[in-house]
Amino acid sequence: MLDFDYYNPTHIVFGQNRLEELDKLVPPSAKVMVTFGGQSAKKFGTIDNVVEALGQREVIEFGGIEANPKFETLMEATKLAKQHDVDFLLAVGGGSVMDGTKFIALAANYASDEHQNILFNGFTPVPTESALPLGCIVTLPATGSEMNMGGVVTLNGQKMVFMSPLTFPTFSFLDPDLTLTLPKEQIANGVADAFIHVIEQYLTVPTQAMVQDRTAEGILKTLLEIGPVTYQDNDDIEARKNFIWSATSALNGTIGAGVPQDWSTHMIGHELTALFDIAHGRTLAIVLPHLLRERRDHKRDKLIQYAERVWDIHTGTDDEKITKAIDNTEAFFNSLDIVTHLSHYGIDEEGIEKVIKNLENLGMTALSESGDLSLDIVRKILLSAK
Ligand code: NZQ
Ligand code: ZN
Repeated sequence: MLDFDYYNPTHIVFGQNRLEELDKLVPPSAKVMVTFGGQSAKKFGTIDNVVEALGQREVIEFGGIEANPKFETLMEATKLAKQHDVDFLLAVGGGSVMDGTKFIALAANYASDEHQNILFNGFTPVPTESALPLGCIVTLPATGSEMNMGGVVTLNGQKMVFMSPLTFPTFSFLDPDLTLTLPKEQIANGVADAFIHVIEQYLTVPTQAMVQDRTAEGILKTLLEIGPVTYQDNDDIEARKNFIWSATSALNGTIGAGVPQDWSTHMIGHELTALFDIAHGRTLAIVLPHLLRERRDHKRDKLIQYAERVWDIHTGTDDEKITKAIDNTEAFFNSLDIVTHLSHYGIDEEGIEKVIKNLENLGMTALSESGDLSLDIVRKILLSAK
């Protein structure tokens, strides 16, 4: 196991009908900006309930944070927050709203007007000293943003990652009832996203991190079991609760502590979203099976472990086990009606070159847990995903 620091201050409020507890968690004198997306949170009454739970506090609303939030939209929100001297942010939505709100939290307290700098640090924490405190009401389980310190914002047609311990939510509400209005395809996206968050921290090279490995395998097995149930059956609330907690646990830092990580699928997937507007989880499901086939020698030991412990494949040679595990993984995404080929989304070789160009512009030319996944290999992966 590698050395690590683990820090996570987010208070999770899990369960149905607990929104009134907001009153205990938001400072009584706070001036709150409630942020939300296109329309769902408003249309389904969540914003009204949140505002009611905030009681006498002064509330400013900012709606319109789009899926894959844009820098410009978030700067508008930042301006509004500054104008009103807001001192607490409350995100009501999925990953896009939560990430966007984290950005607003940083930008609102950032001395310089050149807010773009905040975004340029990738996985290294941004060099800011303070941020507005924020809380989250999660309406879409997927990204884990509700219990981590990262965010992704679209700037100039590219996905920019930022991290800061200052953006850990103070609290996050995980209420399964708030997710019942999700269209089926968003459930599928969320299952794929959570699954692949685990894979990117688990399917690398062995490091004898037994707790992290077995926890990762537990989350993967849970998603395999309850993902399809939640996709098919909106009323199975216990399955949904397990889906929600799987998604949060997949990216709250626990399984990633002390292990090598490979975020290649995410980095490639992000640019598929930025260029072709394919939902985040879907882009990952397209890339991952093809990446695993390309990297099967590199990831051999962990792939065998994955085959045996996650897919219970105990017969055949090691190579047969690996092939079956990767095929099963792709079939799992397909069973959620996620098509795992680029041609389905109208992306041809020209489109693939655009992805390569974006990665190059972002300096992402040496991806993976060992930094040896070059753009030529990315090209090969994407061509095989055609
Ligand atoms: O905008 P509205 O109308 O609210 O509709 C949203 C949106 O169109 C809808 N939705 C959300 N909750 C709903 C609902 N519709 C009905 N009922 C509900 N209860 O769902 C659509 C998608 O929402 P979005 O927030 O974009 O999805 P997701 O949670 O998958 O977030 C994706 C974003 O998170 C980033 C991605 O890059 C992308 O920008 N990620 C953030 C990460 C993090 N912070 O750690 C890690 C991830 O890997 C990911 O990169
Ligand atoms: Zn993701």
